[in-house]
Order: sequence, then structure tokens, then C-alpha cells
Amino acid sequence: MKKKFIGVALTVACTLAFVTTGLAQDKAASMARGQKVYNEYCKTCHQATGQGLGTVYPPLAKSDYLAKTPMPQIIKEVVNGKSGKLKVNGKEYNGVMAPLPKKYTDEDIAGVLTYVYNSWGNKGTVVTVADVKKHKKK
Ligand code: HEC
Repeated sequence: MKKKFIGVALTVACTLAFVTTGLAQDKAASMARGQKVYNEYCKTCHQATGQGLGTVYPPLAKSDYLAKTPMPQIIKEVVNGKSGKLKVNGKEYNGVMAPLPKKYTDEDIAGVLTYVYNSWGNKGTVVTVADVKKHKKK
């Protein structure tokens, strides 16, 4: 009886470890893909460490807007573009972010958002391809 219990406990522990490692690997792969997209595209405006630029490009690093806005909306804004008045970390912006070029895939979008959500002091969610598919439409 005791042996059986240990066996079951071990199986549960191993499965958990396996699943956790798998998720961590998914996140790492998505972050790596996202970093490439970020450096190729987003960096021009939001800068290498997400600090933004002057009064034109808002920061992504420790952005209170990013933290408090629901993730589905962030997906929509990054994919379809965003303009109009906006306050980030106490500073006012009123610019235009163009829609994301069509060449970027749902994997690229999930990656770049996961990268932004988990870089430069940001602590956030992992954005999956399923999230992007579900929420990217206007
Ligand atoms: C051509 C410049 C440009 C590029 C490239 C660009 N953005 Fe933006 N982004 C802006 C501007 C300007 C705003 C503010 C729009 C407004 O005032 O409503 C903004 C706003 C944002 C916001 C919401 C505000 C904040 O600071 O939290 C997020 C999140 C964001 N961008 C993410 C991205 C990501 C991710 C990429 C790359 C996939 C990207 N942007 C590419 C110019 C750009």
C-alpha cells in the first residue's frame, strides 16, 4: 500500500516537472522569436530597452498602461494600430502607431508580446498563439 502511494506520488511529481519544463521551454522559444521581431520592428520607436523616446514614443518598460490594460486589448492595438491620447507613467502622448506589417505571423505576435511582457522589469503573462488568433481582429 505504502509502495503504491510512493509510486503514485512519484508519477505525479514527474509529470508536473515535465509539464513545467515544457512550459518554460515554450516561453523561452517564444521570447527568443519575439526578441528578433522586437529588434527588427518595434525597437525603432520604443527603443532597445523599451524606454521609449521623448514625448513621441511611449515606454514599454514598466509601462503602467501595459500593466493595467487587458491583454486582449493590447493584442488588438499592436496588430491593428493605435492612435489618440494616451497616458503612460504620468506622461501624455498623442501619436500614431501603424498596424503591424502583415508579414508577421501569429507566432511572431505571440512572441513579441511575450517578450515585451517579460522584459526590462516587466512581469507579465505569456501570450499564446491561441490568444493572438482569438483577439487580433478589430
Ligand atoms: C513607428 C513607430 C512604432 C512602432 C514600430 C511600434 N510602435 Fe508601439 N507605439 C507607438 C506610438 C506612437 C504609440 C502611442 C500611440 C498613441 O499615442 O495612442 C505606441 C503605443 C504602444 C503601446 C501602448 C502604450 C505603452 O507604452 O504601453 C504598446 C504596448 C506598444 N506600442 C507596443 C509595440 C510593439 C510590441 C511593437 C512591435 C511589434 C510596436 N509597439 C511598434 C509607435 C510605434
